Amino acid sequence: MSMDSVRLVEVGARDGLQNEARSLPVETRVLLLERLAAAGLRTIESGAFVSPRWVPQMAGSDEVLRRLTPRPGVTYTALVPNLEGLERALAVGCREVAVFAAASEAFSQRNINCSIAQSLERFQSVLARAREAGVAVRGYVSCVMGCPFTGQVPTARVVEVARALHEMGCYEISLGDTIGTGTPGQTARLIKACVAEVPLTALAAHFHDTYGMAVANVHAALEAGVRVFDSSVSGLGGCPYSPGATGNVASEELVYLFHGLGLSTGIDLARLIKAGAFVDQALHRPTGSRVAKALLHKHNQLEIP
Ligand code: HMG
Ligand code: MG
Repeated sequence: MSMDSVRLVEVGARDGLQNEARSLPVETRVLLLERLAAAGLRTIESGAFVSPRWVPQMAGSDEVLRRLTPRPGVTYTALVPNLEGLERALAVGCREVAVFAAASEAFSQRNINCSIAQSLERFQSVLARAREAGVAVRGYVSCVMGCPFTGQVPTARVVEVARALHEMGCYEISLGDTIGTGTPGQTARLIKACVAEVPLTALAAHFHDTYGMAVANVHAALEAGVRVFDSSVSGLGGCPYSPGATGNVASEELVYLFHGLGLSTGIDLARLIKAGAFVDQALHRPTGSRVAKALLHKHNQLEIP
């Protein structure tokens, strides 16, 4: 990737939809994903091979992934918590998956019913099997700037988990501010601390907008050298185990921010906004993107050339 471009990882169909009260049918999820790809997104998280008892909104992910039409340059990825999840992903032809660990013990227990150490041990076998299958693995660290159950999370703990995931073979580590409490200064310090153990080019940032800091945090991470950012179309999202957390930062906000800075994303903002309008209509919710709201109003159904 050149210095003047950034990569967005679209997580709306997973991190977003997993936290919407209304579950969307497979058909609607597939249409959303294809619209996101048509808007220019290249890495698109499309589902989660987790227990449907734990996250009912992600039931049917197998069918979603199976029905997506492959597109050159587009990778449809999925979350896997264990080997059982990876086998489901392999069965439907996933070429990339993501494992997820936490930097907080309490969150790890509530989210995946095991300790951080146990999860890392599980992921070793997931990574080994993925390597054998030639599937790329991304790694998330949750609660990097705070935990919904215990508050502060030591930076050293975040760095330790990020490093462990990188060492076991995750090609990219996404640092997740699960509850959206982080601030730009904290973001800059966190990236600096992580870079001591994980190469900057292997770091991504994942912000939730609970306190309205997400765009500012993205900018701080960008200044610190990060070039990969997770976001959700229309600001869908949250976390079922993180009460009060709002959605991910909206993808529309990031495209507007980056294009305004002269950085290329490969994304067509008007098409992205239309993809957002599509899913909002299906969910009966207003847009969670201020950029989408402003442009839809200004251009009346977005007649942007
Ligand atoms: P468990 O109950 O400890 O699992 O749950 P288990 O291994 O004891 O198995 C119990 C049952 O679950 C068995 O079925 C298994 O087959 C089944 P039974 O025999 O009782 O019928 N099972 C599965 N079914 C389908 N797919 C699987 C699977 N594994 C076991 N992969 C488990 C452990 C990890 C499965 C559970 O806790 C779980 O699914 N958790 C999912 C949590 C989740 O998805 N959270 C949201 C994503 S994390 C996030 O959003 C943060 C992030 O965005 C970054 C950020 O913002 O910070 C990534
Ligand atoms: Mg998240």
